[in-house]
Amino acid sequence: MAVPHLKGKQVLVTGAASGIGRATALAFARQGANLVISDINPALLESTADAARALGVQCLTYAVDVADEAAMRDFAASVHAKTGPVDVLVNNAGIGYIGPFLRSPVNSWRRVLDINVMGVVHGCHFFGERMVEAGGARQIINVASLAGIAPAPNMSAYAASKHAVMGLCDVLAMELADTDVGVTAICPGIINTPITNARGSVSEAITPTQIERLRAYYEANGVSPDVVAAAIVDATRHGRPLVLVGPYARPMYHLKRISRKLVKSMTLSDARKNGYLETMK
Ligand SMILES: NC(=O)c1ccc[n+]([C@@H]2O[C@H](COP(=O)([O-])OP(=O)(O)OC[C@H]3O[C@@H](n4cnc5c(N)ncnc54)[C@H](O)[C@@H]3O)[C@@H](O)[C@H]2O)c1
Repeated sequence: MAVPHLKGKQVLVTGAASGIGRATALAFARQGANLVISDINPALLESTADAARALGVQCLTYAVDVADEAAMRDFAASVHAKTGPVDVLVNNAGIGYIGPFLRSPVNSWRRVLDINVMGVVHGCHFFGERMVEAGGARQIINVASLAGIAPAPNMSAYAASKHAVMGLCDVLAMELADTDVGVTAICPGIINTPITNARGSVSEAITPTQIERLRAYYEANGVSPDVVAAAIVDATRHGRPLVLVGPYARPMYHLKRISRKLVKSMTLSDARKNGYLETMK
């Protein structure tokens, strides 16, 4: 449900050490919201916290792996004891994975689903109940992706994880329709963040040249994570259910509603042009 005034509200952001999470935490801080931020990279997380405190808000930090159920339960218990239920929950932490399906090890799939799906499930589960019980306008924001709508070759695990987040958002939004808690699915297009640098997120079928090309593509075509952060703040203030932000997100969403076939053939032709199908050989 719309949370129009963010000053003094309690906003929790996972994966806040880098990229979209860091930008989002700081965007909420600029609105005067107090923060609880978490990440698996505590050193970088402290840098986000320092920047937030410099904006004059309170900021608690937690080094937590979103995939770890027990750690997430303890995290929620600690936050509830210190600040009570959060007003805005941003389940942002996530990883990419690049590789053709037949050459992506099953354990890479598991890692992607553990972080990108179960991380969001843990956030909604351990923080959501207290948000509903507390009453008053609150919002759950889950960061999915354009890959949750119109995926491309070499991203089967990532696309599956983001489709799962989209499905969760749809169902949760209906189940919470008669409460004061709204649900937003965020679908960013190409955003220039360090997501393509993460170790363990690339199949051995992908060559260093292809990775370099992908990074160069993100740098050249991606927009700043600040653009997504601004859209997340706006979605929170207006209680928007779906946010399409960044290059290709909006046109691909609408095109897919008109013709799935057209979107598939355009994406396939693009993948062929960029040599992405060569990895299957
Ligand atoms: N960059 C893009 O083009 C893009 C597009 C669509 C969606 N997204 C999504 O946006 C979200 C943020 O990605 P980003 O681009 O800012 O990447 P990023 O790598 O810059 O930031 C991700 C953050 O999540 C943290 N993280 C990773 N695994 C974690 C775990 N198990 N527990 C806790 N924290 C963990 C990382 O340490 C990092 O700080 C992800 O869910 C991603 O899938 C990104």
